[in-house]
Amino acid sequence: MKSVKKKIKAQDDEIIVGLDVGTTKICAIVARQKENDNIDIIGIGRSPSKGLHRGIVVNPGKTIDSIKEALAEAELNSGVRIKSVSVGIAGHHIRCIQSTSTIGINNPERVIQEEDIRRLIEQAGLIRIPSDTQIISVIPQEYIIDGKDGIYDTPIGMFGVRLDAKVNIITGLVSSIDDLSQCVKTCDVDIDDIVLEPIASSYSVLHETEKKVGVAMLDIGGGTTDVAVFKKGVLRYTAGIGIAGSLVTNDIVEALGISEEEAERIKREYGFASIDEILNDEEISVKGINRNVPKKTRKSILARIIQARMLDIFQLSAIEIMNSQIHKELHAGVVITGGGSLIKGTKELAEEILGMEVNLGIPTGMKGGLIKEVESPIYATGVGLILHRIKMMNAPDFGNELKGGNSKRKKITAKGVFNKIKMWFDE
Ligand SMILES: Nc1ncnc2c1ncn2[C@@H]1O[C@H](COP(=O)(O)OP(=O)(O)OP(=O)(O)O)[C@@H](O)[C@H]1O
Ligand SMILES: [Mg+2]
Repeated sequence: MKSVKKKIKAQDDEIIVGLDVGTTKICAIVARQKENDNIDIIGIGRSPSKGLHRGIVVNPGKTIDSIKEALAEAELNSGVRIKSVSVGIAGHHIRCIQSTSTIGINNPERVIQEEDIRRLIEQAGLIRIPSDTQIISVIPQEYIIDGKDGIYDTPIGMFGVRLDAKVNIITGLVSSIDDLSQCVKTCDVDIDDIVLEPIASSYSVLHETEKKVGVAMLDIGGGTTDVAVFKKGVLRYTAGIGIAGSLVTNDIVEALGISEEEAERIKREYGFASIDEILNDEEISVKGINRNVPKKTRKSILARIIQARMLDIFQLSAIEIMNSQIHKELHAGVVITGGGSLIKGTKELAEEILGMEVNLGIPTGMKGGLIKEVESPIYATGVGLILHRIKMMNAPDFGNELKGGNSKRKKITAKGVFNKIKMWFDE
């Protein structure tokens, strides 16, 4: 995006910034929430990501430099001095544990109140988890009131003396979460929220009806493929696979003996994830490592390399979708997103391996300016972080601890955030 110099103003309450710290790119998207529910994207900043491996910070110095670069560009383009951001977290350290929680309703009228839900969630968060992990979120799946099950919407306002809930508890490695938040805070911005990346992406690429009838989302990024399975409107299962677009590029480097830059170029220009989708098997000219000696290859040879790795991605995804134990109930099929989904023929290969209808997830939900700029699967997480943040800000107040303060724009300390059990009640 071309930099347009604007007068810089401080970030106010209507401005929300999504910071996607990806393995290959970092992007900061600045949005303004307007009164009529419209959201304008007013600026984007991007930088190549150098300090992450498979979604995890491995070089804090390089990560900080990349984040600073993306934030500076976003500030320049939006004219906003960024003070706080919503950040995404992913990686194969993320685990999803199924658990239950029970509380007694002790108010005299026996009406379930927000406070009861908060206690229920807190109770759920008391489970034993490995000492090097911490809870990122607790997501209620189903409520049971006095033994009456099948309650998927909020039970607030219903009557009962005992409330049970089936919950999904999302955990991550303490060190990975701390490393990421420390990098962000070193860039002089506060963290509004840390959101599981597949949840963020789901906000921008999945429709509510898809989440209700059952859908699996695969965010094929550079370093990780995130799997998230939704049913009855809630996240049922999530997992991270350490194979994605960068490994595809790497395979091309190794197989053809060319530079990473050149491999990336031919992957995007001529790459096919499914050999069957090639209509016209042209010869391709590629720069050898020694630039004076061009090499020749064919689209079908390139496709064979790509297909082998994409097969791995979809076979592992299929296992994870089955691990959700609701693979037979996914009536909306699969939605693929992330930059890795942009290789031609990806949808067709995914359909063949997964045996379900597959659609490409392009961010939607923004109604104002600069829309075209983010209409790509690579912005699914960045846009989703903004939509998720707006939903959290507009959700009913569940109390200070869960919403992180009584002001709409909460500030979270790097340590403090994870000790709080966050509620995805709106999910
Ligand atoms: N037009 C395109 N065609 C094919 N592949 C593409 C295209 N654009 C991007 N990619 C690939 O998408 C991958 C990056 O995707 P994305 O930006 O979603 O990842 P990320 O968010 O940086 O990483 P992660 O989510 O794994 O941390 C790269 O491997 C890149 O080669
Ligand atoms: Mg990503």
